Amino acid sequence: MTDSSVERALEILCNGGLVAIPTETVYGLAGDASNEAAVRRIFAAKGRPAEHPLIVHVAAAGQLGDWAATVPPTAAVLADTCWPGPLTLLVPKAAHVLPVVTGGRETVGIRVPAHPLTTELLSRFGGGLAAPSANRFGKVSPTTAAHVVADLGSRVDYVLDGGACSVGVESTIVDCTTTPPQILRPGGIGSEEISALLEGALADADGPSRAPGMLASHYAPNAHVVLVETAQEAAAIAASSSGGWILDRSDNLVAYAHCLYAELRSADERGVHTIIAVMPPAIGLGHAIRDRLTKAAAH
Ligand code: TXA
Ligand code: MG
Repeated sequence: MTDSSVERALEILCNGGLVAIPTETVYGLAGDASNEAAVRRIFAAKGRPAEHPLIVHVAAAGQLGDWAATVPPTAAVLADTCWPGPLTLLVPKAAHVLPVVTGGRETVGIRVPAHPLTTELLSRFGGGLAAPSANRFGKVSPTTAAHVVADLGSRVDYVLDGGACSVGVESTIVDCTTTPPQILRPGGIGSEEISALLEGALADADGPSRAPGMLASHYAPNAHVVLVETAQEAAAIAASSSGGWILDRSDNLVAYAHCLYAELRSADERGVHTIIAVMPPAIGLGHAIRDRLTKAAAH
């Protein structure tokens, strides 16, 4: 079946327009990565500083070499094993990659997303789609088409509705240009899995993230966010005079990641003044959830 919505999205992208695309992580605000005017429109629509680079999305792992000057062996291993999937690889950029995409850097982030509509779109498009998360700068990433419309409205030409994003947090970013590689942003694939695939050759991911744009107060809802380590602590705060609404799926990391951004948005819609978030264990998807909650609380 050729989806008429994919047809429409393709036509807009080929004419330099912007389309919100569903991925397994979050919705992306996509434009033709080889069209400088289209890429500039992405920054304008998001209200994002020009020095924050964009990830280039492609249909299949075989296209990594089209965008990389050289493919480090570590990147080849991770691409073969994890793509399509919630992983972005930083590699040395090929000469044709526009500086506006990389924020003037010599590296480019590449990812093969796993969502049937976007896979079909990318296959037929043939090239690369530059796409940051489809939210206004500094806000919570969108995990449904309705979130995109609420954030961007007419700033996006078309929203390709692929339902709710299955993973719910952004991709893990691995810088493969250093030896050993390093995780710049925890995300949909846990560091333990990446470390195992690289046979342990992964730099310590502790400390502040090195990806530009990973500001301390990112992913911020309007509500005040208080972090606790246990459900008991959360209940005690909620019962006290300060009160608050408890966010806790720490018993199920997959479910926690899946609902995290939608819950933060819904708390804002309901006018919740304080979200009491229970931190999940720091394993697998828990690293990404802890990172995003910490940033939400830094607001
Ligand atoms: O799951 C995802 O990665 C989503 C979906 C749409 O694919 N995309 C996403 O893009 O989260 P964005 O732009 O919101 O976050 C990408 C992060 C930014 O912090 C950016 O600075 C960093 O990746 N980044 C991209 N290219 C980079 C590069 N060449 N060097 C360093 N950091 C880079
Ligand atoms: Mg983002």
